[in-house]
Amino acid sequence: MALDEAQLKARIEGAADEAALEALRVELLGRKGSVTEQLKAVGELPPAERATAGSAANQLRLAVQAALEARGIALRQAQFTQELSTPLDLTAPGTQPALGHRHPASLVLDELIELYWQMGYQVAEGPEVETEWYNFEALNIPADHPARDMQDTFYLEEAHLPRTHTSGIQIRHLELHKDELPVRIIAPGKVYRNEDEDARHSWTFHQIEGLVVDEGISLADLKGTLEAMMRGILGDQTKLRLRSNYFPYTEPSVEMDATCVVCGGTGKLGEKDCHLCGGSGWLELGGAGMIHPQVLRNIGIDPMVYSGFAFGFGPERIAAIKYGVDDVREFWRPNFAFLEQF
Ligand code: PHE
Repeated sequence: MALDEAQLKARIEGAADEAALEALRVELLGRKGSVTEQLKAVGELPPAERATAGSAANQLRLAVQAALEARGIALRQAQFTQELSTPLDLTAPGTQPALGHRHPASLVLDELIELYWQMGYQVAEGPEVETEWYNFEALNIPADHPARDMQDTFYLEEAHLPRTHTSGIQIRHLELHKDELPVRIIAPGKVYRNEDEDARHSWTFHQIEGLVVDEGISLADLKGTLEAMMRGILGDQTKLRLRSNYFPYTEPSVEMDATCVVCGGTGKLGEKDCHLCGGSGWLELGGAGMIHPQVLRNIGIDPMVYSGFAFGFGPERIAAIKYGVDDVREFWRPNFAFLEQF
């Protein structure tokens, strides 16, 4: 059945919008469209009729194509005119773009960096993928030493691992600067451990490492520095406690605790043990100590002349105390209701 060109054109001109026009295009010119079929049918005709029928079918195709194009332009123009005539309210309030802000752990890190900067420290950095040498051996932790158990992690190829602490930066920095003593640095960064997650532990967290090497540095300098830092970041009301501890790369070693934010240091919530501090009333903030003479000797620094201290803290723990957060895992969850409070 031959198609009627005038009728087809009328249908095209009547297409109400671009979707209707597209549907028509498919119906007429698509792979199985009626105009397409008519063109294909020409090949089946007896040779004598092919030339006339062929040129008629081709002409119809061109006419339909032109009509589709013209209607498309007309539809878009109409829409544009309508948009132009819609009054623009210049006084309407703008749409506020959603702005992010710094993560609470970054806020605490920035504050710590600022505090130490005021005390004359420089910021140092180290790689997140560390060698076993810098992460353990150079810190007096040989392969079979039980201290490795405390910082279990996963290993990458060829004696590399995601660093379990920022202490390797102590060694890296001293190697580079042993002829330019004294050094005073802090080194913030992310660390990774194989931890069973609970309110106080997550398997990724931040640390901030401190290192001072000079002549005549004593434990009193370490204590005074830590106290200045804690007063600066948590305020005078927070109680601090130093207790002895063990790290293979410091001697003596200490652990620093601050009073628990949830139970206020009592260790109890009603009858139960406090879920954040586990009933002790204290939150462990990090370790510290006087640099072990063997560590200095390994680097080529004479421990009879120089001494120093080092410390490592978790900013998430400090953020938990500062902002009253009772579960450090929140810091690593994509929970905007939580994060937007800071
Ligand atoms: N690296 C220790 C830890 O991650 C903390 C520490 C740092 C201890 C510096 C002593 C000196 O637990």
